[in-house]
Amino acid sequence: MTISFEGRVAIVTGAGGGLGRAYALELARRGAKVVVNDLGGSRDGTGHSDAALKVVAEIEAAGGEAMSDGGSVTDYDHMVRMVEKAKERWGGVHILINNAGVLRDKSFAKMEMEDFRFVVDVHLNGSANCTKAVWETMREQAYGRILMTASSTGLYGNFGQANYGAAKLGLAGFAKTLALEGQKYNIHVNTIAPTAATRMTEDIFPPALLEKFRPELVAPAALYLVSQDAPTNAILGAGAGVFQAAYVTLTRGVALDEATPEAVAAHWAEITSRDGEIVPQSGAEQAMTIMQRLQGQ
Ligand code: NAI
Repeated sequence: MTISFEGRVAIVTGAGGGLGRAYALELARRGAKVVVNDLGGSRDGTGHSDAALKVVAEIEAAGGEAMSDGGSVTDYDHMVRMVEKAKERWGGVHILINNAGVLRDKSFAKMEMEDFRFVVDVHLNGSANCTKAVWETMREQAYGRILMTASSTGLYGNFGQANYGAAKLGLAGFAKTLALEGQKYNIHVNTIAPTAATRMTEDIFPPALLEKFRPELVAPAALYLVSQDAPTNAILGAGAGVFQAAYVTLTRGVALDEATPEAVAAHWAEITSRDGEIVPQSGAEQAMTIMQRLQGQ
């Protein structure tokens, strides 16, 4: 079955290049009307350019419909106005892909707090700004598909990216609660952890791999996760045409009669054993498992 976005309005942040551009082009090719947001700065978030306008021109040249927005995701009032403009022109907003991002890599020892805060502000607060700006509209429509962009750094860590990792795992946590709150309004919220050759990773990828890690090979994951039949609450890794699911798991653990640090040390192997591990679907479900352990189950 073909996945179509005919009749859908999508906002893609940071869509002036890299992954966001690939998502915007493919959404438009499949019928969506797309708001291409990008302030067009450099990799570290400084400066401005007309990157968004260029992608709109590409979409229009291919026969699609799009509008550009050159505002920053860190500006909540601007994000509200962007959503209003999309609604005025196209009648609603059905899809939001929070993709805008910056890098300010340094080991934590050398990192200025300004660079920590800036990276968290763009990724985490920026995604919250855009999501808040569309949330009420999606609830009223009883339809919404939202994608957060995490990263392997957020899920598993990476040297020199403490600021980025904090923001990226924050986004996965943000998505998990929104997935629960959105469920009854038919708002599905998922997280993608992409791997692609873009300017963000240009100094990491050996030239031979650049072609294999084209952003276009991540776009299928993003598009599925914002489609009508998308799951909710998923974390999907995607890169070079390889697709993987990531989970936050919980071990069975142990109920200790004498809860002392020594007892925790003595039972470490049992506490961390992955036999019988589960994936709780909410925080409350973890609390339930504590009750079960207390009852000897
Ligand atoms: P990119 O640098 O090509 O794209 C990021 C875009 O966001 C840029 O066009 C930039 O101008 C825009 N942007 C930055 N700050 C903004 C702001 N305040 N408001 C609006 N737009 C802003 O890099 P790439 O790789 O396409 O990154 C896209 C997303 O994927 C980012 O969130 C990134 O952290 C994430 N990611 C990418 C990975 C990769 O392997 N390329 C790995 C893991 C995550």
